[in-house]
Amino acid sequence: MPKVLIIDDEVSILESLEMFLSEGGYTVRTAATAKAGKSLFKRFEPDVVVLDIRLPDSTGFDVLSWLNRSPKPPKVIMITAFHDMETAITSMKNGAFDYIHKPLDADEVETTIEKAVRAVQAEREVTVSGDQTDAVEEDVIIGKSKPILDVFKTIGMLCRNDATALILGETGTGKELIARVIHKNSKNSNAPFITLDCSAVVETLLESELFGHEKGAFTGADQTKPGQIELAGKGTLFLDEIGELSLGIQGKLLGFLERREYLRVGGQYPQRSQCRILAATHRDLNAMVQDGKFRKDLYFRLNVVTLNVPPLCERLEDIPDLAHHFLKIISQSMHKPFQLQDGAMDMLMQHHFPGNVRELKNIITAAAVRSPSNVILKEDIQQVLSLHRDSTQTPDPASNLENIEQQHIERVLKAVGWNRTQAARLLGISLPTLRSKIRKFGIDPDEP
Ligand SMILES: Nc1ncnc2c1ncn2[C@@H]1O[C@H](COP(=O)(O)OP(=O)(O)OP(=O)(O)O)[C@@H](O)[C@H]1O
Ligand SMILES: [Mg+2]
Repeated sequence: MPKVLIIDDEVSILESLEMFLSEGGYTVRTAATAKAGKSLFKRFEPDVVVLDIRLPDSTGFDVLSWLNRSPKPPKVIMITAFHDMETAITSMKNGAFDYIHKPLDADEVETTIEKAVRAVQAEREVTVSGDQTDAVEEDVIIGKSKPILDVFKTIGMLCRNDATALILGETGTGKELIARVIHKNSKNSNAPFITLDCSAVVETLLESELFGHEKGAFTGADQTKPGQIELAGKGTLFLDEIGELSLGIQGKLLGFLERREYLRVGGQYPQRSQCRILAATHRDLNAMVQDGKFRKDLYFRLNVVTLNVPPLCERLEDIPDLAHHFLKIISQSMHKPFQLQDGAMDMLMQHHFPGNVRELKNIITAAAVRSPSNVILKEDIQQVLSLHRDSTQTPDPASNLENIEQQHIERVLKAVGWNRTQAARLLGISLPTLRSKIRKFGIDPDEP
C-alpha cells in the first residue's frame, strides 16, 4: 500500500485527509509541526508527503529542501494558499512534485496523490539504460535500420573526397546534421562549416551573401565584404533549402561549380574558392526541373552524389535509440536524469511523425519539461502526442500550430533557465532561428 505523510498544522485538515485517504487504500500518518513531520518521515519512509507551506516552527520550503536532500526523497505535494501564484512557482522550482490550493478539494487531492504514486512506481520499475549523465556527442547520427545504414555508407564515401552532394529528405529527417557529420569527418574538418539558408535571405541580398560585394556595389555597401563562399575557405558551405534559389542566382552558382570562380557583386576580377558545396532541400527538385523552376544543368551538377534521407516512418526501429539519445541530451541541459516509463516507447512507436526526427525530439523534450519527476510517464507522452495530433486536425491548423510552437518554446526556455543556446539545441533549431521566433512571438523572460 502506498504510504502518505501529511504535515499541516490545521487539525481539521489532518483528520479529514487521513480518513479520506485511508478509505482510498493508502497508509497515512500525520504531523502538525515540521519537527514532528521530519522525525516521522525517517521512521515511516513515505512515498508521498503532503506539505503545508505555513507551519508553526518552520516554512514548508525548508522542509521541502530537507526532504529532497534525504536518502530516499519522496514526492512532495505542497499545499498553498488560494491564488498565491508565487509560492506555487517557488514550490515547483524547489523540486515539489505538484501543488494544490486551499481550500482543498478532495478529488484534486486524490488525483494528485495518485499521480505521485504512479511516478514512484514507474521510477521503481524503469529499466535503467546507461548513465544519463554520460557525455553525449553532439553531431552523431543515431540509427541502425537498413535505410540509415545505407545513408552511412554514402556519407563514408563522401568523407574520402570533396564531391558536391545533394541531401534530399522531408523536413526534420536530419539533412543538416548529415551535412555537419560529412564535414567533421572530411580532411578539411578544421576549416569552417558554414550554413546559408537560402530561404531566409531576401533574394536581392542573397547574391551578396553568397559571393560577397565590393565597396560601392550598391547603396549601403560602404565596405568590401566577403561572401560565405570566401568565408568557408577550404571548408564546407552548406546551402540549405536550395530549392528556394532564384533562377538568376542558380545560374551564378552553376558558373561557380563549373569553374570554381566567381565575381563579388560589383566586382570585376574573378575570385577563386576551394570550398566544398553540400546542398539540401525537402522539395522535389526533379519536379521543379520539369516545371522550369530549377535549372536542369545545376540539378545535374549538384546531383553528383545524392543522399536520400528516409522519413522516420520508414525506419521505426530507430525510434528507441533516438529517444534514448534525446533523453540524454535533455538530461544534460536540464541537469536531471530523465528516463521513460516502461511502455512509453511503444506509444511513441505508434505515432506517425510527419515532422520526422525533429518531431520526436520535440515530443520528448515537451514531455520532459512537463514531467515533475525523473521518469516521464506514459500519460505525459500521451498528452503531448494528443496535442501534436490535434494540431493537424483543427480547422485552422496554422495558427494552432503556432500556438503550440510558442508554448513549447516558452516551456523549453524556462526549463533551461533562459539559456538560448541550450534551448536552441533542445529545440533542434539554430540560434538565429530561435531569436527570430522569440521576437515573432514576443516571448519575454521577465513576464511571469
Ligand atoms: N539520426 C539522427 N540522430 C540524432 N539526431 C538526429 C537524427 N536525425 C535528426 N536529428 C536531430 O533532429 C533535429 C532535426 O534535424 P535537422 O535539422 O538536421 O533536419 P533537416 O532535415 O535539416 O530539417 P529541415 O528540412 O526542416 O531543415 C536536429 O536536432 C538533429 O540533430
Ligand atoms: Mg535543415
